[in-house]
Amino acid sequence: MRRILVTGGAGFIGSNFVLYMRKAHPEDRLIVLDRLTYAGNLANLIGLEEGPEYSFIRGDINDLDLVSGIFRKEEPDVVVNFAAESHVDRSILGPGEFVRTNINGAFTLLEAARACFGANPAKRFIHVSTDEVYGSLGPEGAFTEETPYSPNSPYAASKAASDHLVRAYHHTYGLAAITTNCSNNYGPFQFPEKLIPLMIINALKGKELPVYGDGQNVRDWLYVADHCSAIDTVIEKGRAGETYNIGGRSERRNIDIVGLICSLIDERAAADKKLKEAYPFEGSRKGLIRFVKDRPGHDRRYAIDCTKMEKEFGWTQKAAFEEWIKKTVDWYVENRDWWERIISGEYMGYYETQYGGRMSGRAPAKG
Ligand code: NAD
Ligand code: DAU
Repeated sequence: MRRILVTGGAGFIGSNFVLYMRKAHPEDRLIVLDRLTYAGNLANLIGLEEGPEYSFIRGDINDLDLVSGIFRKEEPDVVVNFAAESHVDRSILGPGEFVRTNINGAFTLLEAARACFGANPAKRFIHVSTDEVYGSLGPEGAFTEETPYSPNSPYAASKAASDHLVRAYHHTYGLAAITTNCSNNYGPFQFPEKLIPLMIINALKGKELPVYGDGQNVRDWLYVADHCSAIDTVIEKGRAGETYNIGGRSERRNIDIVGLICSLIDERAAADKKLKEAYPFEGSRKGLIRFVKDRPGHDRRYAIDCTKMEKEFGWTQKAAFEEWIKKTVDWYVENRDWWERIISGEYMGYYETQYGGRMSGRAPAKG
């Protein structure tokens, strides 16, 4: 039995990871530490019961006493750090919290791990990071593990800083640390501020669909369950001190993703009388698309070269984007309670700040 401390385990990827590990390795003890910020949601972990296999602790990774106490009591074999402020737009509105959690919080966790793990190679520290640390790509090429760091947003810069700390703790203190850099995730339990859930929910409700700039920005989409299986692989097989890129091999332009979501929801509503009654809408939802003022410093293109994961470990994505996005749309349609509760709360304050003055954007040309 391994004891795995999962920080940020009530967020989008963290909760998917906890649920994934519960099934894949039922013998492991999972200890979730999460501050439950706006993005943390215990509803994501419903069905898990406190006991020998699982504990939830509400707390801040910046709290050294708390974190050290957890290390002493639980004696984890593995730490997986998901805890972070994760939304680029929020980092532009207010970067302070990103520095606090993503840099200082990671530092605090590393200090606690150093004191407890030392240079024991059997005790692993997995730091979950992002492809955004590499900056923006032109039309060709993809980020490899050797691509120099060039972060462009306060969010990306804060993640880059934490990646450097992780690297330094391995080189200086021998901590068996590994960093993973992944591309854009999507799937169940993603907070509605992010592109895919935001567009699904707005399209269902017949609200305008705000596409930043010209909609030609490209992201490499990774289904969250594929990401979880990659982290599971890295825990078991990853080499200490290494970094691993994890991607979806699914580059898509934002405008194409939004168009596809519109078509999928139009089709579902046409086939489902109850859904059509709940969310009446005439015509194609593509008519809701609006090009709005761009995100400042908006990175043009991300693409991950995940050859290292594929060659070293035989890891790969389980299905193609078109299949996973359909499943994702279905999940949001079938789990309306989950997101209705979120969007009826303080989230709407953020939505007004972010989109209120922007919605006068133009619709795409017909055809
Ligand atoms: P999220 O915002 O959905 O969840 C973050 C979680 O961390 C929340 O549960 C929140 O309550 C918790 N948290 C925040 N501050 C905390 C603190 N100080 N102490 C303890 N808990 C705290 O994020 P996500 O999308 O699940 O991302 C998880 C990790 O993966 C992040 O490190 C992010 O940078 C990285 N990542 C995300 C993506 C993506 O597409 N979502 C892609 C690449 C990397
Ligand atoms: O690449 C990995 C990163 O992916 C993670 O590190 C971040 O935590 C995660 O939030 C995500 O960052 P992005 O900025 O790429 O994701 P977001 O969903 O915010 O935006 C995806 C693209 O869609 C981006 O080009 C901006 C655009 N966009 C986003 C929103 C919210 C729009 O056009 N309109 C929108 O309303």
